Amino acid sequence: MNSTVPASGFKVGALEEIPDGGGRIFQFPTAQGELCLLVLRSDDCCYGYINRCPHFGVPLATCDSQLLYESNHWIKCNVHYARFRWMDGFCEAGECAGESLQRVPLEVRNGKVLVAEYP
Ligand code: FES
Repeated sequence: MNSTVPASGFKVGALEEIPDGGGRIFQFPTAQGELCLLVLRSDDCCYGYINRCPHFGVPLATCDSQLLYESNHWIKCNVHYARFRWMDGFCEAGECAGESLQRVPLEVRNGKVLVAEYP
């Protein structure tokens, strides 16, 4: 496991904090700086990614209101608009086509969004 990603069992937040069919950015201080997670929700499923575009290594968005997405289909980077698949973070169009967002596996338990076991 990469040391810049949260450990399994880490509590990200409550499911109700994330709009269904939408996303939310969560930020946590760490010893290495700030951990910024992008969480996309489809009903009771959440998909987690490090909020960093593989093109220039910058955040896809810096606040929730800047998230560009089509619910349950894709999310775009705010800088050059690379388009990533909702459910696996694969870049299907744009400057970094063929690359992927760094995934953080999530699970929902008792209304809480937690980091799951890494594959
Ligand atoms: S920085 Fe994201 S597409 Fe260029």
